[in-house]
Amino acid sequence: MVDLGVEFLGVEFKSPILLSSAPPTLDADHIKRAVEAGFGGGVTKTISYRQFHDPKPRFQGVKIRNRLFGMQNIEHISTYVFDWWIKEFKILRDLKKTHGTPIVASIMAGTDLDEWAKLAKAVEEQGADIIELNVSCPHMSDSAMGAFIGQDCPLTGEVSKAAAEAVSVPVMTKLTPNVTDIASIAKEAVKGGAKGVAAINTVLVLSGIDINTGNPLPDVWGKGGFGGYSGPAVRPIGLRMVGEIARQGISVSGIGGIESWENVLEYMMIGAGTVQLATAAMWYGFDIVKGWNENILNFMKEHGYDSLADLKGITIPKITELEKLDYIKEVYSDVDTERCIDCRRCVTACRDGATNAMKNPKLNDVDYEKCVGCGLCKMVCPQDCISMIIKKD
Ligand SMILES: Cc1cc2nc3c(=O)[nH]c(=O)nc-3n(C[C@H](O)[C@H](O)[C@H](O)COP(=O)(O)O)c2cc1C
Repeated sequence: MVDLGVEFLGVEFKSPILLSSAPPTLDADHIKRAVEAGFGGGVTKTISYRQFHDPKPRFQGVKIRNRLFGMQNIEHISTYVFDWWIKEFKILRDLKKTHGTPIVASIMAGTDLDEWAKLAKAVEEQGADIIELNVSCPHMSDSAMGAFIGQDCPLTGEVSKAAAEAVSVPVMTKLTPNVTDIASIAKEAVKGGAKGVAAINTVLVLSGIDINTGNPLPDVWGKGGFGGYSGPAVRPIGLRMVGEIARQGISVSGIGGIESWENVLEYMMIGAGTVQLATAAMWYGFDIVKGWNENILNFMKEHGYDSLADLKGITIPKITELEKLDYIKEVYSDVDTERCIDCRRCVTACRDGATNAMKNPKLNDVDYEKCVGCGLCKMVCPQDCISMIIKKD
């Protein structure tokens, strides 16, 4: 029987698809509704002992042809402190009883290691099955919190150690992509005692500028600031970083731009043991997950996978140094003339961005002497009707 259950850091999840720590997990009711819609659980919005306030507004969408593609936020961690969360944990414990949903609590402290240990112990006492350490928010107003820690390799190790030694449940450290070498920071977290890591948190950006006023976006009444970027735009960054971590043999919960069941499989194939998403749930609601579990099950049946463990990490051995790629095969473009709508985007792209080899796509007229097989025409084709085929001698 094919099923979607996974064991991650020794904890059983009915589905590997979790909500990540963000507004969709701002309280237990949100997490409960997400589980009822099909999520395998939700990581609580990051809990601390300190009170934070959020700027209003605090989100800025980035659109491409009117479709949301990325989002910058300048939001902090939970505006509710630990004491407020105690009653929410009671609801999460009930959810564990009725639905078997593990409790994953995200926490944050500053550079005081005792505070990390105390908070980790406190959420463990509230029933947390996994504790996620947020050392990765890139825009905390307390500049000695969040990514300040995650960008410091030894400090990340120390924080992981302080929390891991204080509790008996597994700890995973949530890493920032705003670093040069995420794998070495993941290794340090694990050396400190984390059972695994979660990656990625948001990418530090400036999402735009209002050219009428010169104000940065998001525009908080004339001022703004750099903030965390999320959504489909960051998925390639997330996939690369999860791959870098997973190939060190480190357990990782993959995050960044997931908005379809295919994206879930991409993250698992590059080595994630579970996945998490936030932005897609903010844009489209929890029902976005409806059908994903079923689609993944069907995919697994069609491709002969008995469990997600069978496909986990299958891409890792296929990632290699570029000098080891095949430089021998000569390829060229081949157009399916039936499906070509003669929009000629391939002609323009090839003329100005490549070698001017695409002559008349409607007649599959390609200058084979000039075509270097770069694939630009295939990439820009809105009909997906160009293939790259191997040149025969
Ligand atoms: C509005 C917003 C608030 C967030 N707050 C938190 C947080 O409190 N703690 C945390 O660890 N990550 C936080 N994140 C980061 C997300 O959990 C996630 O790592 C990131 O958004 C990338 O995933 P996505 O592209 O699916 O949104 C937040 C993200 C957004 C968009």
